[in-house]
Amino acid sequence: MCGIVGYVGAKNAVPFLLQGLSKLEYRGYDSAGIAVRTNDSIEIIKKRGSIQNIKDIIGARELNSRIGIGHTRWATHGNPTDENSHPHVSSCGRIAVVHNGIIENYIELKEKLTELDIKFNSETDSEVVAQYIGYLYKTNKNIFECILETVKVLQGSFALCIICQDCPEKLIVVKKDSPLIIGVSEGENYVASDVPALLSYTNKVCRLPEKSVAIVTADEFKLYDFDKNVIEKKLDLVNWSVDSAEKSGYEHFMMKEIMEQATAVKSTISPRINLDLNNNLVKLDNITFSEEYLKNLEKICIVACGSAYHVGCVAKYFIEEILRIPVEIDLASEFRYRNPIVKNSLVVVISQSGETADSLAALREAKKLGARVISIVNVFGSSIATESDDVLYTYAGPEIAVATTKAYSTQLVSAYLLTLKLCELLQKRTLNYDKIMQDIKKLPEKIEKILENKNSIHDIAKKYYNYEKVFFIGRNIDYAVCMEGSLKLKEISYVHSEAYAAGELKHGTISLIDDNTLVIALATQTKLVDKMISNVREVRARGARVLFVASENCQEKLHEVAEDVIVIPEISDLLSASLSVIPLQFFAYYIALYRGCNIDKPKNLAKSVTVE
Ligand code: F6R
Repeated sequence: MCGIVGYVGAKNAVPFLLQGLSKLEYRGYDSAGIAVRTNDSIEIIKKRGSIQNIKDIIGARELNSRIGIGHTRWATHGNPTDENSHPHVSSCGRIAVVHNGIIENYIELKEKLTELDIKFNSETDSEVVAQYIGYLYKTNKNIFECILETVKVLQGSFALCIICQDCPEKLIVVKKDSPLIIGVSEGENYVASDVPALLSYTNKVCRLPEKSVAIVTADEFKLYDFDKNVIEKKLDLVNWSVDSAEKSGYEHFMMKEIMEQATAVKSTISPRINLDLNNNLVKLDNITFSEEYLKNLEKICIVACGSAYHVGCVAKYFIEEILRIPVEIDLASEFRYRNPIVKNSLVVVISQSGETADSLAALREAKKLGARVISIVNVFGSSIATESDDVLYTYAGPEIAVATTKAYSTQLVSAYLLTLKLCELLQKRTLNYDKIMQDIKKLPEKIEKILENKNSIHDIAKKYYNYEKVFFIGRNIDYAVCMEGSLKLKEISYVHSEAYAAGELKHGTISLIDDNTLVIALATQTKLVDKMISNVREVRARGARVLFVASENCQEKLHEVAEDVIVIPEISDLLSASLSVIPLQFFAYYIALYRGCNIDKPKNLAKSVTVE
């Protein structure tokens, strides 16, 4: 979604603003703009379309300023037009604002300001922020006070970065329910809504606490709450390398990230389990559970969105089988509106970005209802991580492609580890536990084997890229993986697909199957292979072509009923999702490639969805 950058320091702000915005392109946007302070005025350059348009306008001009702000907009209120692009400027022309989030009461504020003869230039909710500050500034020349007064009337979510013509050395930034980071360096300071914009410049960051305002100058920054009380600053060191957010020779981030999965899974499990020794205990960071808590634990509720929700769907099978504790799984956007029962429940929120608005709102609801919340998060210090009672970080590194791959895989193994820890504490370790533990240790090497085999999936995709109708079918854990395979295909190749429980097709949906349909069938659950074969015979009889993804130990007999079979290494049935998802990621990638789609930035989608 929208991206923010800001700079104040001894150098020219423009190169950072443009490069920083380019680094945030992956979040999804449809217009871009920058504002810099020159000696005479605030100069705004903003345009619908890509950042390149801004670069073209600047061209060979020597636009030079020690302070500036920039923005990539993902349209919500008003079309993607030049006028609706950020930065927005107050009527007096002395204040420029970029905004991420949504101002929920913007209509009311706009009406009030319009009655006061203030003219608006856009349809956005964001412009009211610039105009409101500008209105107050007419009578109070203390810009900081005007901003504080403004944030008190705003409802909704907002990360703001503001410059004022009369304050040549100050950026003012505000955070409420939308992430914002200050990057600290010698003689210059940066602002960004996401770490990748800063990686080439500094690894020292301060993530703005919820409901805070900062005054940032070249040499320092001061942090306040909305009542102007000073807040203690907390600096973190980001350990992501500059290269981790580069394509490193790959054509797309998505392929790079698929190929990083063996390493990412190893990085996530290795600090928590001993990979070499015959030691089967899980060290779960500093997460502890009292005996009393465990005695009363009756249910686990998993809450997430999109692919992270699909991780929860797999985890439900895993947890219930191993722990014999019921698991409820909710889409975060539904959870808070159904009056959930969380008494004696552990709530697990899963999120790569840690900023997904729906997941954050669900987390807050769960806490309000008295539940303990553990989150599984990739981005250090993100809002979901900060607000949870405990965090289990995934060590996937930055994920740039909109379609998640390595985050999914690392979330999945984190859910396994959390389950095994509870298993150990609840004294439910059985023979199965040891086998699973050993197999988890083998996951990186088995994932690597599948990655090495990517060309065969490329060849298979070549046969099927023209199909417009695809069904993913499976049973049990395979069904949960089908949901992820189907989402991957839809989001990047725009091919309509559905994930169906294989046994459910005949209850209606089979009417859609014809000789224009491709069916991708998963068979990794040994006890269910014969049932899958029967379901595949049903779709074959109606003309569909069938591609099987099956475990080594399940593949026998499948060649007779399918055009193609992709074989994945043998692993405990309960862990098969960690392997079977990878051919589906490759498949979606190659289909999208053959169809000429924009793989890393699929249309209409944003990487981190910070609006509800
Ligand atoms: C799909 C995808 C999305 C995210 C979802 C949640 O490839 O990436 O479905 O999984 O938007 O995002 P996070 O995990 O950041 O909360």
